[in-house]
Amino acid sequence: MTSSVVFGVRNISKSFPGVKALKDVSIEVHPHEVVGLIGENGAGKSTLLKILSGVQRPDSGDVILRDQPVSFGGVGDAVREGVAMVYQEQSLLPNITVAENVLLGNEGNTVRGGVYRWSELRKRAQSYLDQVGTGLDAAAITESLPFAQRQMVEVAKALATGDRTEHEPVILLDEPTSVLEHDEIEKLYQIVRELKKRASVVFVSHRMNEVLAVCDRVYIMRDGEVVAVRDPKTVAEHELYELMVGEERHQGFYHEEGQVEPEDQVRLEISKLSGDHFHDVSLTVARGEVVALMGVQESGREYLGRALFGAVPVQSGTVTLDGQALRFRTPTQAVRDGIGYIPSERKIDGAVLGMSVNDNLTLAHPDQVCRGPFIDPALEHRTVRSWLDRLRVKTPSAATLMRTLSGGNQQKVVLAKWLLDPDLRLLILDTPTRGLDIGAKADVYRLIRELAAHGLSVLLIADTLDEGIAMSHRVITMKDGRITGEFPSTPTNRPDKTDVLARMV
Ligand SMILES: Nc1ncnc2c1ncn2[C@@H]1O[C@H](COP(=O)(O)OP(=O)(O)OP(=O)(O)O)[C@@H](O)[C@H]1O
Ligand SMILES: [Mg+2]
Repeated sequence: MTSSVVFGVRNISKSFPGVKALKDVSIEVHPHEVVGLIGENGAGKSTLLKILSGVQRPDSGDVILRDQPVSFGGVGDAVREGVAMVYQEQSLLPNITVAENVLLGNEGNTVRGGVYRWSELRKRAQSYLDQVGTGLDAAAITESLPFAQRQMVEVAKALATGDRTEHEPVILLDEPTSVLEHDEIEKLYQIVRELKKRASVVFVSHRMNEVLAVCDRVYIMRDGEVVAVRDPKTVAEHELYELMVGEERHQGFYHEEGQVEPEDQVRLEISKLSGDHFHDVSLTVARGEVVALMGVQESGREYLGRALFGAVPVQSGTVTLDGQALRFRTPTQAVRDGIGYIPSERKIDGAVLGMSVNDNLTLAHPDQVCRGPFIDPALEHRTVRSWLDRLRVKTPSAATLMRTLSGGNQQKVVLAKWLLDPDLRLLILDTPTRGLDIGAKADVYRLIRELAAHGLSVLLIADTLDEGIAMSHRVITMKDGRITGEFPSTPTNRPDKTDVLARMV
């Protein structure tokens, strides 16, 4: 028998110190429904999912399961009821096998007398991994996998959890696609469609087209409240934006009017550079130029970015910055040379979660907040405040722990940390706007324009074709580690999307 409300919350409120994260929120999930949840960074989406999955308790209000109020004492209670969640921050244990992670707490008959029956465990885990595809190996050690694959393991784990009850499961997905590449995203859509036949799904995403394509109904949240519910079949994308931000803000999204011609002087010159996953790469970036590197996952573009930052070794070739040969030893050296790098795996590389927002911002460049050898508190306060304002970081104060910021707001802090450096000459941005809401994206685009106008050179590993084309002075395509094409790009003459794509695949 199926009930009318499989899952949901009624009049939920939740506060954290200095923040009312949820205010009287009610949502309903019906059987076999995929419900979308959208809203700006910090709107309360992850908090809502954490309450639904038993990670956090609400201050007031009810969680409803199969038409009845329930009280989850913890994640275990929710899991036993078949509620599974894929977290925005990954939750896998790094140093055990993929199989153990998939079946964690759910080992069933694969454990006898406290001892794993390994072949049984692997076989069962593998059956879930095969459902999510992409050749994942149950025997692999989890931390040896790239971030995106670990995300797929999270999905497999959710599927395994969902199979634990005789009831139809509920799967909660918090921005599952933000670290995935095209093929994996497609695969995930398939999984969600497949899941619909036997489960209900709540899906959080910042990608509008995704929400419209996958969801049956979409809730729009703003500042901790549900402000609207819409049917993706009849709602227009711009209406969703308006509901999310309370105004129409996607006009001039890429700030194309702010694009100025780069200077003549070459800043970065790469000549015949080869390394792991990239071969014989030659390119230049002028002062004040934004060059977008476009390519699919195996194109090698992110390896090139990391190599330029000294994070992975280079085998041969040369690189000069303002005419001076660079020697790649370490990222520390790169920072000294005026190179900044924002990795795509910001949760791991970019932020120190146990430190305050303030310290995350100023740590890399204490000179910006010091007079002489000492930190100048007033200067520090002003500097930090101005960056928090410029990027509209939503935080109760600069002293707030980074850990408690929403995912998107943590990302903004990581970005600001680099931008704080006045001696920055080259900034390598690996998908800097993933996970950011639409308004925050526009803020980042505006900043990139401003910095380029002041002479900063940018290598942009863009998240989408649109972003790369609209943001750059030149688009360079890569495929299988080699450069395959180059397209000039001005506000009045942007390269054609299909032409660019043709050089990528
Ligand atoms: N553990 C916590 N302690 C203190 N504040 C918190 C905690 N968790 C969330 N918050 C605050 O609650 C608000 C909502 O955060 P939440 O993570 O739910 O946002 P979100 O909608 O998921 O945003 P994003 O799109 O950036 O992931 C934010 O202001 C955040 O700083
Ligand atoms: Mg979130």
